[in-house]
Amino acid sequence: SETRIISADEEDMKSAVCEAAAALAKGEIVAVPTETVYGLAADAFNADAVAKVFAAKERPAFDPLIVHIASFKELAEVAVLPEDIAGTVKSLAGAFWPGPLTIILPKSDKVPDLVTSGLPTVAVRQSGNVIFRSIGKALGRPIAAPSANRFGRISPTSASAVMKELEGRIPLVVDGGACREGLESTIITIENRAGEQKPLIRVLRAGPVTKEELQKFGKVVIEKKISERPDAPGQLESHYAPRTPLLMFDKPEDFRPEEGKRYGLLSYRGDPKAGYVDLHEWERVEELSPGSGKLMEAAVRLFHVMRVLDEEGLDAIVAEPVSETGLGVAIMDRLRRASAPR
Ligand code: TXA
Ligand code: MG
Repeated sequence: SETRIISADEEDMKSAVCEAAAALAKGEIVAVPTETVYGLAADAFNADAVAKVFAAKERPAFDPLIVHIASFKELAEVAVLPEDIAGTVKSLAGAFWPGPLTIILPKSDKVPDLVTSGLPTVAVRQSGNVIFRSIGKALGRPIAAPSANRFGRISPTSASAVMKELEGRIPLVVDGGACREGLESTIITIENRAGEQKPLIRVLRAGPVTKEELQKFGKVVIEKKISERPDAPGQLESHYAPRTPLLMFDKPEDFRPEEGKRYGLLSYRGDPKAGYVDLHEWERVEELSPGSGKLMEAAVRLFHVMRVLDEEGLDAIVAEPVSETGLGVAIMDRLRRASAPR
């Protein structure tokens, strides 16, 4: 069946929001922009609609969805705030919502088990994208939305990328232009530890809200071996993957090109001193932050650049590592998963 794209430019925004909200209210699924990546939205309280999301993405039922609220008031509908962390949740929401932070909390009975894959917890965030928020307000209900890609593949940061992933599988895409952040939200859990002053914040997925920013609110640990964590079922080792094999090396010299094969380079800033650019006759070089090496720009461009290289029909893509500070942690997380054995 056919997929329609509707524009949500300034003059079209009202009608796009109305049409998307009406489709969601009827139990349809719609791809919509958020500030991180495009999401595939459904009414979070309608289990049949949520089932369509899993089907369109070919997502296994053990991988739970994020629920998006339109206001802090709506949090009470989807989650139960434990008393011992309520203060921290409110402070974090005050600092980062609306925005790219997802908090895992005990779920309310209203959230269907399908949304949380049977877990007693629910992942919640409030998106900062104006179009997304307006759709949520018009619907008047929370929105369940995973990234709008086929399961395990590269998240879409534009409407055309959504079409490449899901054309023919969903009825409607709202085109809100390119995503401002380009990487999926930071996902955290919060624990109040007896006898300790600061709560413990565990980062299950690194994202635009960095460890450094979270440290004001508690002791922060970034979960490294995510595949060994039973409470992060969807945090699979191999994810965000292009079809082309993606390779990463500890040292540039470790890369040994095979005769007759075509290689592309995913470079940070195209800096010859980094040791990668001059290493090989690359078939194609794409830079994340041309010249300047800014992590912000690199994050915004990462999935787009992965897609561009993936479409070249190369034998492999070699990715240059970035420094693991600030946003670099989230970028390296995505590169490692994209290069993990499948
Ligand atoms: O930025 C984002 O977070 C985007 C936009 C659309 O909001 N959404 C997104 O959703 O990235 P998705 O489904 O691609 O990734 C959500 C992740 C999954 O890895 C899932 O396993 C995890 O959140 N998750 C959801 N509920 C959880 C829960 N109750 N406990 C632990 N992890 C959970
Ligand atoms: Mg995803």
